[in-house]
This record gives sequence, C-alpha cells and structure tokens, in this order.
Amino acid sequence: INFQPTRFITSAPEISKLPADEGIEVAFAGRSNAGKSSALNTLTRQKALARTSKTPGRTQLINVFEVKPDQRLVDLPGYGFAKVPLEVKEKWQLALSEYLQMRKSLRGLVLLMDIRHPYREVDQELLHWATDSKIRVLVLLTKADKLKPGVRNSTLLKAREAALVFGGDVTVEAFSSLSKLGLDKVEAKLTEWFND
Ligand code: GTP
Ligand code: MG
Repeated sequence: INFQPTRFITSAPEISKLPADEGIEVAFAGRSNAGKSSALNTLTRQKALARTSKTPGRTQLINVFEVKPDQRLVDLPGYGFAKVPLEVKEKWQLALSEYLQMRKSLRGLVLLMDIRHPYREVDQELLHWATDSKIRVLVLLTKADKLKPGVRNSTLLKAREAALVFGGDVTVEAFSSLSKLGLDKVEAKLTEWFND
C-alpha cells in the first residue's frame, strides 16, 4: 500500500464522534510524547499531516486520516500525561478500552513506546485490553536513533520476550522517524492488516 496520499478527514473530541464504524481502521496509541504523530508523518511521507510537538499532550483530539476510502489511520491522544487531571485521565482510559473492545473496523493497533522506557504501566494495560479483545498489536520502540546499535538490539530482544507475557498477536520492532529505521517493517505490517 502507498500511504503517501493519506489525507486528514476529521478530528473527533471523543470516540462516539468518530466516523461510521465501517471499512478498516488502524489506530496509533501510546504515552504522550512517544512519537505517534511523527510516526504517522514518516509513514505517509508528509511533514505535517499529524501535528508534532515537544510539549507532551499536544494531540488532544482523535485525529482521523484516510489512506483511501474505507481505510483509515487514527492518531489517538497520548495517555499518561502527568499534567492532565486524574479524572480526565481515567475517563480517557475508559474510552480507550471501550474503543478497543467495541470498534468493529479496528483491524490493528500500533502501540508506540519510547525505546528508552518501554512497557510503562499504561502501556501494559493497553496491551492487555488489545490482546483480550483479539486485536493485533504492532509495538514500535520509538526514537531508536537515541541508542547505539548494540544497546538498541539487546533492548529489542528483551522487549520481544516481554511481549510474550500478553499472549495474542504482538509484533515488536525498533523504529525511528529520524533515521527511518523500521519503516519498512511498519509498512509491511500495515499493508498486511489492510489487505487481510
Ligand atoms: P502527543 O501527541 O503529545 O501524545 O505526542 P506524540 O506521541 O504524537 O509525539 P510526537 O510525534 O509529537 O513527538 C514528540 C517529540 O519526540 C517531538 O519533539 C519529536 O520531534 C520527537 N520525536 C519523535 N519521533 C522521534 C524519533 O524517531 N527520534 C527522535 N530523536 N525524536 C523523535
Ligand atoms: Mg501526537
């Protein structure tokens, strides 16, 4: 699949306001600042399709993009952002678990975690929800350019082993929007999901 023609279609303030639950959808989730928006821009070869920021919590809305009719990419707001009140955080986590359980068009979840601190508590929670709901997961260890190749590879192997705990269909890859490391793996996996 060529992801370059992807275009923005809408921002939804909450899951109930998403486009009709039809076709195929792949969602990008992860902690604030994990690199979700950057990964979307890298995948689509667009500089500013999804807004990126140094300030965590930039993406507050659910941004929906269309690769082609009935094929969507969804940029979910980052979770676990410290400055958001607990009440807001809990509400969002509830909405997220509901989305993973109820969304029929959801074909796969891309879970992004900073390679320097993977599997934080919220990441683990999300992985449990996804695998419990039989949603396939592609875990991307982002900002892989920040580590030397040796450390990067040992971290990747450890992260793959850790993924076994969750059961289900979980693939783990190292990724960098900066160096494009792992981009081929993301494209292959998403093409598989969209064509399946
Ligand atoms: P929220 O929308 O706030 O949840 O964040 P996000 O997950 O969308 O992260 P975003 O893509 O905005 O990136 C956050 C910060 O990390 C920005 O300063 C990016 O430039 C930086 N960043 C993202 N990807 C990479 C990467 O592969 N390498 C490096 N070195 N920095 C990256
Ligand atoms: Mg973002």
